[in-house]
Amino acid sequence: MEKRIVVAIDGPAGAGKSTVARQVAERMGFLYIDTGAMYRAIALWAHRQGTAFDDHLNLTQLALAADIELGPEQVFLNGEDVSTAIRTPEIASAASKVSVVAGVRRALVEKQRAMGARLSVVMEGRDIATHVFPDAQIKIFLDAAADVRAARRVDQLGGDILAVTQEIQARDHRDRTRTEAPLLQAPDAVYLDTSNLPSDEVVEAILQIVRARTSNGKAVTS
Ligand code: DC
Repeated sequence: MEKRIVVAIDGPAGAGKSTVARQVAERMGFLYIDTGAMYRAIALWAHRQGTAFDDHLNLTQLALAADIELGPEQVFLNGEDVSTAIRTPEIASAASKVSVVAGVRRALVEKQRAMGARLSVVMEGRDIATHVFPDAQIKIFLDAAADVRAARRVDQLGGDILAVTQEIQARDHRDRTRTEAPLLQAPDAVYLDTSNLPSDEVVEAILQIVRARTSNGKAVTS
């Protein structure tokens, strides 16, 4: 029986989720969905409007009203290409702050579930296996040592290693300790430490898991 497949990839900032998830999606012919980009898009909109991070009502309104489109490489907010604008450290930190708001999460999780309802997807974030798709057939938790994750971010985006390490630690703390759907490994997720693994090996390891649980890209029903 043909069934859509959800590959859920969670983990902290800099664990290698985007690189790996994008490649797994490409190899399987699945849709790639970066949910962090959605929180970043709301943070950018809030920042531009001057909406305070404790103004939960207005942040929720923005999340409900936002038209977010995700391409393999691009992110559109209300029709504007914001792919570059959402990648600054300031917006990363702001995204972590807006993501604690229950109404923002509810609005974005609804959009994420709608995206995953139609097609087979590789979806990456913080709460995909625990909350967005608790029934996902494949659940992966990607992790890496904090200093490795900070060094990767500096390689990608530049910046001072000390400042980036502090930003990542503050974001980790907020993402792991928030009340609503915190970053947490699902009990049935496969844990992969990518500190000393090149991304192509991580991709192969995940593809093996996907293939073992599916047949020709179709879920094995038993
Ligand atoms: O993956 P990222 O660095 O682009 O995510 C930015 C922030 O968005 C992250 O610090 C926490 C939040 N986020 C979330 O709360 N839930 C998700 N599923 C994805 C991201």
